[in-house]
Amino acid sequence: MSCFDASGSPRARLDRLFEHPAVFNAYQALVDGGKMRQIRRFLAGLPFRSILDIGCGTGNWSHLAADGYLGVDSSPAFIEAARERYKGDPNKRFLLADASELELVQSYDLCLMISVLHHLSDAKVRAVLERVSTRCRNLFVLDLYPIPWNPASRALYALDRGDYIRSPQEQQRLLEEADGLRLRKAGSYFSPTFLYRHTLFLLENDKLGFEHALLVQ
Ligand SMILES: C[S@@+](CC[C@H](N)C(=O)[O-])C[C@H]1O[C@@H](n2cnc3c(N)ncnc32)[C@H](O)[C@@H]1O
Repeated sequence: MSCFDASGSPRARLDRLFEHPAVFNAYQALVDGGKMRQIRRFLAGLPFRSILDIGCGTGNWSHLAADGYLGVDSSPAFIEAARERYKGDPNKRFLLADASELELVQSYDLCLMISVLHHLSDAKVRAVLERVSTRCRNLFVLDLYPIPWNPASRALYALDRGDYIRSPQEQQRLLEEADGLRLRKAGSYFSPTFLYRHTLFLLENDKLGFEHALLVQ
């Protein structure tokens, strides 16, 4: 968990560094390799076209949407970088907002929350899921969990920008609390560097089940 919060502290300096879109993207590519392959494998067979991406960062996952992509993030720097990166693509939209206060006007086949859960308090997660469950047919969540026997992993997590690192069981419990969202699949994998253990969850929305059934045909 984070332990340094004053603005001149190592943690605060690291936070500011990772607010730079280029630094964030480079870090993702270097340390977090293999995510794409794991996500594709986990979601194989799930029919979806449109995506709502909560905590979209710089839009790294927007290519997963065949049409209709909305990325939402509370970081002005990330949203600006994402808009610049995809300015020629009218199918990709990016919104600067706190996802727990989002007003959704459209429905989406799939909601992504990739490496975002540990940035949100339980209250914020509940508020996000309440919104997601009214508009999204499926929810995919990828989060992380320290590897206890690896001191480098523990050190990295102590400096992580997210203040709400939860055990896989706590993550699952929180997700399953959401009204209408039913767990379909759960899994985990170690990153190739053994710095991260990632959890993966796929939840289906019972409330929007009929539309989903039509989509499968
Ligand atoms: C580790 S990054 C992951 C970004 C992206 N999902 C990816 O995998 O490349 C976490 C993101 O969550 C965003 N975030 C944190 N709290 C948020 C909130 N309340 N509403 C929207 N975005 C939030 C951060 O700004 C950051 O971009």
